[in-house]
Amino acid sequence: MSLLKIVHYPEPVLLKVGRPVEVFDEKLEKLIADMFETMYSAHGVGLAAPQVGESQRLFVMDCSGGEDESRRFALINPEIVTQEGEQVGDEGCLSFPGIYTKVKREVRTVVRFQNVKGEFNELDVTDLEARCVLHETDHCDGIVFLDRMTALKREFAKRKIKRLQKTGKWD
Ligand code: NI
Repeated sequence: MSLLKIVHYPEPVLLKVGRPVEVFDEKLEKLIADMFETMYSAHGVGLAAPQVGESQRLFVMDCSGGEDESRRFALINPEIVTQEGEQVGDEGCLSFPGIYTKVKREVRTVVRFQNVKGEFNELDVTDLEARCVLHETDHCDGIVFLDRMTALKREFAKRKIKRLQKTGKWD
């Protein structure tokens, strides 16, 4: 396994719709293993392929932070089937280092996806896992969490990013 470079906003790959995964081979398995290692190393709970420069529809997640093997998921070609309710909570993104802000999301979602072998599956999740699935599926669609913030919080975040860019703390 090897650590991948996480790209930061506004890298164009983050703003592009990912292409569907069609080939389920060893190369895909390796990408997923590397994405898990990169995510754990960065202390994130989710990481989507565009964040490591791959414009593909897949992401990895583990909201237990490596504590519970059963909460470790790789979702390929995710499609949100249902989303309901509402939660407001702090959200961050490995492509926006140092930016944390309240974001409103649905509290429950059912997502249909393929596993590493190409088999179809569904996942029904709530709370943080629902937030994570929605955030990472957005990445597959070229949507970043900046787009989900209120206008005021978005302006505040953009100003902070500009400050960090000027001081060389954002590359
Ligand atoms: Ni993110």
